[in-house]
Amino acid sequence: MSVVPNPGNGKITVPELLQRKTSPENSKKIVCLTAYDYPTARLLDEAGVDVLLVGDSLAMVALGYDSTLPVTLDEMIHHARAVRRGTKRALLVADMPFGSYHSDTAESLRNAVRFVKEAGVEAVKVEGGERRLELIARLTEAEIPVMGHVGLTPQSVNALGGYRVQGKTTDSAEQLLRDARAVEAAGAFAVVLEAVPRELAAQITRELRIPTIGIGAGPDCDGQILVVHDLLGLTFERTPKFARQYANLGEIISNAIRSYAQDVRTGAFPSDRESYHSGSASKAGEDSPVRISIC
Ligand code: KIV
Repeated sequence: MSVVPNPGNGKITVPELLQRKTSPENSKKIVCLTAYDYPTARLLDEAGVDVLLVGDSLAMVALGYDSTLPVTLDEMIHHARAVRRGTKRALLVADMPFGSYHSDTAESLRNAVRFVKEAGVEAVKVEGGERRLELIARLTEAEIPVMGHVGLTPQSVNALGGYRVQGKTTDSAEQLLRDARAVEAAGAFAVVLEAVPRELAAQITRELRIPTIGIGAGPDCDGQILVVHDLLGLTFERTPKFARQYANLGEIISNAIRSYAQDVRTGAFPSDRESYHSGSASKAGEDSPVRISIC
């Protein structure tokens, strides 16, 4: 499966996303979602999502931790590899997890390179603004495109004292503006604005030359991202105000499993048609492969 971009093959690239911001005739909103496994990646990619983010929200929605802090670099790479196999058109971005870019820049670069070499990601995302200037510049210089992330940065939950809307006071709004400008100046190709007032997100969007991707930042951003489990109704906790639920897969899955359990218990599953037969009782088609391999 080739995911190497050729002009005109529809593959979403970093330059194409930048162009959407700079040339008004290409100014389509950027559609982004998280993905953590192969089937979800395929469904999202085939539905035309522009950017798939292997977010460290993986820790909470797929691995059951109560924050994003515990997920490791190896776990992130493992999931990014699965998402890579299901993604052809979308730009594939992976979150650098907590601890993987917080010591020296050389080690952070080595960790980012692992994402590119071992999982085939096309960009990495790091949380933080002014504090990440040097790191973003170094990764960009090493030809690894970087997506910034400012506002509510979940990896700072302990420092922030909880998951709260950011930039509501004059001082914190000014800091957020400085953070967004720093991310752009360092060379990032896009920046996520999480849980910030709509008016501030609109101001940042107007000011920056790179696209802003909002999550809880109102409709004026250049693109939007959601955690796919929130959108599909696959979470167990209360979801944030900004997360619109488009389906209730939790209920659908639960009903399907209950029906299966009932059928096993009553003997209604499997039926004769779902069984193989020996000798003369063998039915037409039984010699075909049990599973078709994926190509
Ligand atoms: O980890 C994540 O899923 C994210 C997005 C929601 C922006 O960082």
